[in-house]
Amino acid sequence: MPKPEPRPRICDYEGSNYRTDFWEGKGRNYEDRVERIALRRLLPEHGRRLLEVGAGFGRLTHEYDGYEQVVLMDYSFSQLRYAQEHLGTSGRFVYVAADAYQLPFRDGVFDGTTIIRVIHHIADVPAVLKQVRRVMTSNGVFILEYANKRNLKALLRYSRRQQSWDPNSLEPVEFVELNFDFHPDYMRAQLVNAGFALQRSIPVSFFRVPLLKNRLPTGLLAGLDGLLQLTGLHYTPSVFTRNAAVGYSPNNLEAPSIFVCPQCGADLSQVDDTMVCDSCDQRWAIRDGIYDFKAPLDD
Ligand SMILES: C[S@@+](CC[C@H](N)C(=O)[O-])C[C@H]1O[C@@H](n2cnc3c(N)ncnc32)[C@H](O)[C@@H]1O
Repeated sequence: MPKPEPRPRICDYEGSNYRTDFWEGKGRNYEDRVERIALRRLLPEHGRRLLEVGAGFGRLTHEYDGYEQVVLMDYSFSQLRYAQEHLGTSGRFVYVAADAYQLPFRDGVFDGTTIIRVIHHIADVPAVLKQVRRVMTSNGVFILEYANKRNLKALLRYSRRQQSWDPNSLEPVEFVELNFDFHPDYMRAQLVNAGFALQRSIPVSFFRVPLLKNRLPTGLLAGLDGLLQLTGLHYTPSVFTRNAAVGYSPNNLEAPSIFVCPQCGADLSQVDDTMVCDSCDQRWAIRDGIYDFKAPLDD
């Protein structure tokens, strides 16, 4: 069997306390609220099956209540385990530990996909967007949030020579290992190359400044942000986009299984708590109801 290609570096959240270290009680209610406002503006109310790439602990899962099935996919098994404990084991939620560079899904099985607060950890953006496009139906809706390098703070710092990188240049900037900011024009070009039409782009988080967040009520700031999101002033640290999958893809929304082998793309057969590849014989575990496609089982 040919050796698999070396994969890009991964920002590994396995075992991290992302929920309690970053969100709960950490003064980010404002960010959480404005992200939900943008998401509600962009995501269709109803759909058949939604994939969240990098779903983490399931912070945003209830925003997908209009979808018949939601697939929470993340590289971190521990984040998914927390999500499962809170969302339950009904078939409406499917938990999948996998790498965004090697999605273990059949072509055309999702009519909705979201990536929120994840692409800034991705070193090879075209590779992940290509995977996302592959698993989506034609005209499926893809909501992508990205960190914007052309934000007001970066522009000010650059103009005062407090920052070396130019916020107006197109290439991504890796300001900390595996943390990238992107220019809006760069991201638009990547989306188009991957087979998406960018339909709408919304600037989000105008008031991500501790001084304001500490002094003004969150509801007021979130309400104002919601209004400013309509201005199109793309100088915020975060941008939400709505994209339509263009061109042909098979529609496999009703296929008997959404999974294929992440290494060779062939069908998988379930044998007890194992998924076995019909072609390359790799075996993948299902652990306590979570599909684990991070690494095949040893023989
Ligand atoms: C900042 S958290 C965001 C979680 C969630 N989207 C949210 O907004 O609350 C980033 C998530 O991306 C996941 N991630 C990073 N690189 C990944 C990759 N290559 N494949 C799958 N998930 C990845 C991490 O495990 C982590 O849970």
